[in-house]
Amino acid sequence: MRINKLLATIACVAVVASSFVGCGNTTQSANATTQETQTGETSASVITLNTDIVVIGAGGGGLSAAIEAHDAGANVIIVEKMPFVGGNTARATGGINAAGTVFQEKLGITDTPEIHYADTLAGGENLNDPELVKYLTENAKNAINWLTDLGADLSDVGSLGGATNKRAHRPAGGAAVGNHLVEVLSANVAERGIETMKNTEATELIVSGDEIIGIKAKSGNQEYIINADAVVIASGGFANNAEIYTKYVPELDGFISTNQVGATGDGIKLAESVKADFVDLEEIQIHPTVHPETAGLITEAVRGNGAILVNNKGERFTNEMLTRDKVSAAILEQEGGHAYLVFDQSVRESLAAIEKYVSQGITTEAETPEALAEALGMDASTLKATITKYNEAVTSGNDTAFGRNAGLETTFEKAPYYAIEVAPGVHHTMGGIKINTNSEVISSEGSVIKNLYAAGEVTGGVHGAERLGGNALADIIVFGRQAGINASALAMSDGKYIGITETAKIEEIKEKIKADAIAQYVDGTYPGESKGNNGTVKVEVIIKDGFIDAIDVIEQHETSTIFASIQNELIPSIIYNQSTESVDAISGASKSSAAILEAVTNALSTATK
Ligand code: FUM
Repeated sequence: MRINKLLATIACVAVVASSFVGCGNTTQSANATTQETQTGETSASVITLNTDIVVIGAGGGGLSAAIEAHDAGANVIIVEKMPFVGGNTARATGGINAAGTVFQEKLGITDTPEIHYADTLAGGENLNDPELVKYLTENAKNAINWLTDLGADLSDVGSLGGATNKRAHRPAGGAAVGNHLVEVLSANVAERGIETMKNTEATELIVSGDEIIGIKAKSGNQEYIINADAVVIASGGFANNAEIYTKYVPELDGFISTNQVGATGDGIKLAESVKADFVDLEEIQIHPTVHPETAGLITEAVRGNGAILVNNKGERFTNEMLTRDKVSAAILEQEGGHAYLVFDQSVRESLAAIEKYVSQGITTEAETPEALAEALGMDASTLKATITKYNEAVTSGNDTAFGRNAGLETTFEKAPYYAIEVAPGVHHTMGGIKINTNSEVISSEGSVIKNLYAAGEVTGGVHGAERLGGNALADIIVFGRQAGINASALAMSDGKYIGITETAKIEEIKEKIKADAIAQYVDGTYPGESKGNNGTVKVEVIIKDGFIDAIDVIEQHETSTIFASIQNELIPSIIYNQSTESVDAISGASKSSAAILEAVTNALSTATK
């Protein structure tokens, strides 16, 4: 909180620097930071925020970019159009790929970035950008270390399709990885006080000459201009926008999608508006094992830990560990275009992610293979024979029928036996914005678009024609971090840098305050309270050397966008004025401003000499 408040002070000074008016003159300051929209009487005014880096999207890529940019010293704002963070990352289950990790070593798995590189290119049918794949596979191990340092548990390592070795990292016991990573990353964002504006959609990239200088955003009726030295687009793919993906692959009309509702390709449209280049937009991945009724993803890790696929007759029909395009095609050739994942209790016990499917009631369960077949309306002796033959393949290590050699470790012998109905669904968009290994966006003319970065599913080139399971998370973390680090370095190199750690600047502001104002308070920490829009507002005003040194908001229930403007504009104005008198409310946030002003006034009433 303390850092936030200092940030807010600095943000105010950035306004001073750019507009030649001081926060001390709050009327001028408000004029400098707001403007009326052109949309008529009912329109709200525009709130202007200033930051070093604005990140569009709070999925795994955006959160990683924000953390790295912050840790490199930059002031960061994240905008997320959904009311929640996490994006598609929250739905990822099977694992995050990396080769040569300490966790693989502990489990006796020999693997290298070179093998990971070769697998990724083979899966992608060599359509991938080799430089991006090289960067991905060489840096995936560091991504695992970084996530572990942030508090993630990635100690379980399993098999996913198209991988020579086990390299999909996930929490102990095989729990779903995505939700865990979102929890860890968002906790780290919160700890660092990085502003996350949920329900806020980036509507436009602001261009000046040949540079991107910020974004326009919208939350309900409230419009924002967020001035920034660099913009990171990490808004995800378009696998939940049938209108776009059927334009590229009309055959996908009518397919279900595993994606969260926000995956609609907004970042693609933003990048298009500034003439970015795009690659492989027609490469849309379908995932073979999606539950048809709920459209829920049944992780590939179920097969990786041993499950087989059978058709309506109870027969296996493919090597279950091939890449997703091949397994999906094999399922679509079966009667009804669907199949059943079949496994036993020992597979269930090996993968905690399966518990979710059981609790959702989408598993069919029986004490014997024959009883399972009957429950599914299959011929009992056929399913029994299929399982017997599969058990022989596991025991001999030779799947003569289909050549499976990954996830071929568990014979089905422990009751109960389980089945989940599955069919292919749209899962990932492999094409997108063209980037280089610095996560810089490349224009249609082949040059870098100044101050614009992109990472994750919104980009193209990493996965080529077919993405390997586990490579999406590696992609978003590796290139999200890269975008954050490079955007921060770029922001630091110009005169408008706001930053979070530049104590010199902080001291400069305080000196200026002291020169302009008379010490009028008694040192100490003073609580103040009032009633805000949605509940109690509590603040603590810290007085040092007779001056208001900091205002920490201890409790508030205002909407995040309004609170951002309070932190970025109102609190700096109070500190600059050393008083709440004549500080104007933030336009469009009058009730929340009044509540903060009242709480601070209450606190100052006991601090006055
Ligand atoms: O099947 C899965 O767990 C999906 C993994 C991925 O898309 O990377």
